[in-house]
Amino acid sequence: MANNLLAGKKGIIFGALDENSIAWITANRVHEEGGQFVLTNAPVAMRMGQINELAQQTGSIVIPADATSIEDIEKLVDAAMAHLGGKLDFVLHSIGMSVNVRKGRSYTDQNYDWTQKGTDVSAMSFHKVMQTLYKKDAMNEWGSIVALTYMAAQRVFPDYNDMADNKAYLESIARSFGYFFGRDKKVRVNTISQSPTPTTAGQGVKGFDGFISYADQMSPLGNATAMDCANYTISLFSDLTRRVTLQNLYNDGGFSNMGVSELVMDKFQ
Ligand SMILES: NC(=O)c1ccc[n+]([C@@H]2O[C@H](COP(=O)([O-])OP(=O)(O)OC[C@H]3O[C@@H](n4cnc5c(N)ncnc54)[C@H](O)[C@@H]3O)[C@@H](O)[C@H]2O)c1
Repeated sequence: MANNLLAGKKGIIFGALDENSIAWITANRVHEEGGQFVLTNAPVAMRMGQINELAQQTGSIVIPADATSIEDIEKLVDAAMAHLGGKLDFVLHSIGMSVNVRKGRSYTDQNYDWTQKGTDVSAMSFHKVMQTLYKKDAMNEWGSIVALTYMAAQRVFPDYNDMADNKAYLESIARSFGYFFGRDKKVRVNTISQSPTPTTAGQGVKGFDGFISYADQMSPLGNATAMDCANYTISLFSDLTRRVTLQNLYNDGGFSNMGVSELVMDKFQ
């Protein structure tokens, strides 16, 4: 169901690793809606992922960049503008990684070098990307920047570990930088808080199967899928949401406003 909502718009999509990635599915939807973009991911992910296949499907090119490296991001933004022939209209930050989660270190037993690495990759990278775009004046007026987050920024999900803190930081950066981007460049900045979704990053969280079923049974509409997230992102990249900014927007089937559902209550009776 394409409506040409992004015809003539250009951007950068971070974080497509494989066909389950939210960024992968979003890239396909952006393409269907007439948007043009450059794909990027960490150099190490290029070797693991199938990103070239996605580039072929969507008529895009891939420019590797470690999102923690200012130098890489600067080169990426310059090359993207050169390739696309001008300033950008949209950017998707779809990046997350916790070394503590990966290596099974609990929240009460952090390796702080790993904590710092995770914060840099998952949250500070968003600041670095926006600061680079801002300094280079790389965004067109009424452009849109979106990052993906999770509700553990507001509520406790023990196994989400230090990613909860990273997401709280990410959401705060969206508001703080969004102010300056709005005031100076008329660009909007939002985060989408997505349901648990079976991707490489999602499935890395301990007890993910229980986590995803619980959220599904708590939500009146069930969990939002990666495709739902892609569609929501399309709306935020389109001209239909020009004055939506500084928001953390829940795409979660209603989960975030639930106390308990009958489906979940039944398990305790
Ligand atoms: N899957 C879920 O349950 C869920 C729920 C809410 C929010 N999110 C968020 O959605 C976003 C996308 O994750 P996903 O679920 O599609 O998983 P994914 O594993 O497919 O994507 C994560 C991406 O981050 C990239 N990345 C890691 N380190 C990087 C670096 N240094 N530089 C550049 N890129 C780097 C990875 O290569 C990968 O492409 C993340 O921010 C994640 O936290 C996911």
